[in-house]
Formats: sequence, structure tokens, C-alpha cells
Amino acid sequence: MTTLAYLNGRYVDRREALVPVDDRGFLFGDGIYEVTRAWNGALLEAEAHLRRLRCGIDALALDGVPDELPEISRALLRNNGLLTGHALVYWQITRGVATPRTHHYPPADTPLTIYASATTFVPPDAARATGVGTITVPDLRWARCDLKTVNLLPNVMARQKAVATGAWEAIMVRDGAVTEGAATNVFGVIDGILRTHPRSNYILHGVTREIVSELAAGIDLPLREDPLLVDEIPHLTECFLTGTTTDVMPVVTIDGHPVGDGRPGPIAGRLHAALIARWSMG
Ligand SMILES: Cc1ncc(COP(=O)(O)O)c(C=O)c1O
Repeated sequence: MTTLAYLNGRYVDRREALVPVDDRGFLFGDGIYEVTRAWNGALLEAEAHLRRLRCGIDALALDGVPDELPEISRALLRNNGLLTGHALVYWQITRGVATPRTHHYPPADTPLTIYASATTFVPPDAARATGVGTITVPDLRWARCDLKTVNLLPNVMARQKAVATGAWEAIMVRDGAVTEGAATNVFGVIDGILRTHPRSNYILHGVTREIVSELAAGIDLPLREDPLLVDEIPHLTECFLTGTTTDVMPVVTIDGHPVGDGRPGPIAGRLHAALIARWSMG
């Protein structure tokens, strides 16, 4: 079956969705992206994802993004037979094709490259049942981790290191404090209090992180936006990851050491159940 993608105003066979080599996304990583979940054709937390994308558009001064991104997302789901079950919608916007190659921005009327695709998705429920292993790695990224840019090499290298050692995620550490995972936010529980890194330029402001924080308040779980220190890791009774393709994922080991009793914890379980209930209610 042909998969349709959206590229620069047209719906095309995904295999023909080609970008020129002079695209600044290819040459400089000069662009942003967004991943939104869909369930039975409904875009989950669509407004929050769009808001974050708009923040990136403003920060990078990417002028000329159409207003119809949600409509295009829905058309991709519909036209690719993704109105039942789980799916992902991927958006990428770059500063477009410009020659000669210069670091500074090309003229403001240079058309952006605007790409979107929708694909089927299988939530990682088997991993959730057992919980996952993680490793800690140095956070080698820049000081604008709040922008969801396509410059993902430190995240790619961190996740690769995790996978190569049989772990599921790499937990990044900056100046002795846990920032986030390679593609997830990190929560821990110490003395019954949930902890996560504050919203700052050193983490992506995860949509799932935000919702899970709200859900925690709804079930009277105290939350402190205070980074977990590496020295506190041995005292964790629970740890979990959050993300659009992760939901709430219990962590059962960090660097080979068990977290708590080494099994998925009750708080992660409650928050995951609350997240699914929120989406089931529409
Ligand atoms: C570095 C990083 N942190 C956190 C997240 C989780 O964010 P969200 O819940 O919006 O998917 C992601 C998702 O891709 C990510 O790449």
C-alpha cells in the first residue's frame, strides 16, 4: 500500500518525498520537529504539541508555517488508514533550500521545507510490564535543550550506548544532576516525594511530563521540581520515564543496580493508568 506523506503543500507517495541536498536541515540541522500520538484517529494532547512547535518556530524565526497543521495531520491519518489503533504523526520544518551555503539565515522569502508523515505505532507495553534498565551518561548537549531541534546527535549517541549495553534508555547527567533521558523525561521517588528536573533550558519541556505532573497533583502525590542528584540515585524507591512514545515507563535498574525492590513501582503504575484513562475519556 502506498504511504502518503505531506511535503511543501502536497500529499505525495512517501518514497517520493525527497528533499534537495542544499536543504539547511540536511546541511546544518537548521530545523525543528514534533511527534504527536494519535489514538483511534484522535490527536492526543494536540494543543500542547502545537504550542511547543510554535515556540520552536518563533525561536528559530521560521516564518511561513501554515496554520492548518492539525488538519494536515488528520488528513494523513485518514488517507493512510490510521483511524483505528495507535499512530504517530511526525512534523519537521527546516529553513529550506538555500545556496550558497552560509551559516547565517538566507533571505526571509526562502521557502521553508515542511514535511509530515503518519505511521502506525505499537506502545511499548511488554517493556512496561517488566520495567526497563537504564544507564547514566554525561549530558553532552547545548544550552537550548528546550528547543525540539533536529540536532539530536548527543541523544542518538546516548541511546546507542544504552542499547549497546542492553539497556532501554540513557539517563543524562549534567553537573551531578539528572536532566532527562535521550528521548524521555525522568521522574524519581524519594521519601514518597516525586522529583523531576524543573522546566529550564536544560531539558525538553515534555508534553507527557507536564500531563503526568498534573495527574500526580490530581491523586495527591507530592511533586518537587528539583533535579535528582546522582548521589541520590541509591535512595530512589521508584523511577520512571515519560514521553509521547513511552507513556509512563517504570525503570527497574540504573547502571545495573536495582531501583527500589527492582520491580515496576506502584506510583508509575497509578500514573500510567491515569494517563490512559485521560485519553480514553477523549
Ligand atoms: C530529549 C527528550 N526529552 C523528553 C521527551 C519527551 O517529550 P514528550 O513527552 O513531549 O514526548 C522527548 C521526546 O521526544 C525528548 O526527545
